Amino acid sequence: MSNNDRGAFGSRLAGVLVTAGSAVGLGNVWRFPYELGRNGGAAFLIIYILCILLFGLPLMVSEFAVGRHAQSNTARAFGMMGGSRHWKVIGMLGVLTGTLILCYYGVAAGWTVEYLLRAGVNGFAGDNRDFTAEFTQFASDPVRPVVCMVVFMLVNLGVILAGVKGGIERGSKLMMPLLFVFIVVLAVLTVMQPGAGRGVEFLFKPDFSKVTPSTLLSAMGQSFFSLSLSMGCLCTYASYFRKEDKLVTNAVNVASIDTLIAIMAALIIFPAAFSVNIEPGAGPSLVFITLPNVFQQLFAARPVLGYCFALLFYLLLVLAALTSAMGLLEVPTIYLKEEFHIRRRWSAIGCTIFCITVGVACSLSIGVWSEHTLFDLNIFDLFDFVTAKIMLPVGGFLIAIYTGWICDDKLLRDEVTNHGTVAVGIYGMYRFLVRYVAPVAILAIFVNELVK
Ligand code: PFF
Repeated sequence: MSNNDRGAFGSRLAGVLVTAGSAVGLGNVWRFPYELGRNGGAAFLIIYILCILLFGLPLMVSEFAVGRHAQSNTARAFGMMGGSRHWKVIGMLGVLTGTLILCYYGVAAGWTVEYLLRAGVNGFAGDNRDFTAEFTQFASDPVRPVVCMVVFMLVNLGVILAGVKGGIERGSKLMMPLLFVFIVVLAVLTVMQPGAGRGVEFLFKPDFSKVTPSTLLSAMGQSFFSLSLSMGCLCTYASYFRKEDKLVTNAVNVASIDTLIAIMAALIIFPAAFSVNIEPGAGPSLVFITLPNVFQQLFAARPVLGYCFALLFYLLLVLAALTSAMGLLEVPTIYLKEEFHIRRRWSAIGCTIFCITVGVACSLSIGVWSEHTLFDLNIFDLFDFVTAKIMLPVGGFLIAIYTGWICDDKLLRDEVTNHGTVAVGIYGMYRFLVRYVAPVAILAIFVNELVK
């Protein structure tokens, strides 16, 4: 089929903003601070940055190169750069992983919608509140979280239906700067609170005594999730990049924005939590239980400031989740469109219906269906486990093998260096990292997670 009707981003900046939008998501705002809290603060931060440099960035460049070279959906793209056509299985795995992730990502995103509404009606005010019970009650309700998830997924569908340029690009250009402003304002407000210094110190003063082999592995896993690696998204978006865009520069920009936003999210959460003597809790509870508590205590004397803070924070969370979900939905949408000749509109609608249906099961599994488990995991946790802990590392490993060992070196070099005009000096280093460092690192994460 002709590539003219695929759509493309209008500028290099648009490509970077959209891709950064997919990278910046719930993973930055709740998962990163939580991993940091568990793994020795600044020591984790240093290791995380090393992971990004050593294998996150090289793999991102690989996905970009494969996607832009092919100018097609991710499934067809792998295998078009040399080697057997069977390597397209990497892309198909990416499509499947992205789609399955969207099923439960939509549920968590629905929670952010509910908390935004609660913030809007000043729902965190009042003494002696039990935020744990309130969250559990909400998440296990059979109706309300499902409605929130459906609302979120329909908004996401609306953006995708508006097309690559009119929807994804326009949405990211609007939401990403907003997100950036919100997070800076929130970080500054938090750091200025009395008692916040302990949190800042925790974040920037490394304690290497807390570093264990599992710290290393957690940092690697986080960098994978946060950069949206091996879910077909980077590859798909790169197929909309312009030929003159510099892939290495784009990758450095996206990774920098993603890391900066993760650090700022931690700068909001730790100083805020420390200033009211709350130890940062784990996982989703940090955002939906600890933080409402923090908002309530921190701003007890200044309710208007507290109201604005909570509202901005949950708005930030919804926007971050939306720019990520857009990427997740675009991957199967363009796949169905190009491989099965289904019109973009119907392909996006079909994928959304599928994700909502499975998402309902994920949502109910936290409440009324919680007794249905496999390997002791409910449906929601099972999806999280299978995608994040198994499919992602397998996909990442295969991408490293494909671009490190299998694909045509000349095609790869031409794509990464724009036919020898840019990044020529660092191509050798990129190839070394993707050939040796990335596969070994990913294998280490995978084996560790499976053993656990
Ligand atoms: N990187 C996103 C986050 O940190 O929340 C998650 C994600 C979004 C992964 C989009 C993959 C993707 F295609």
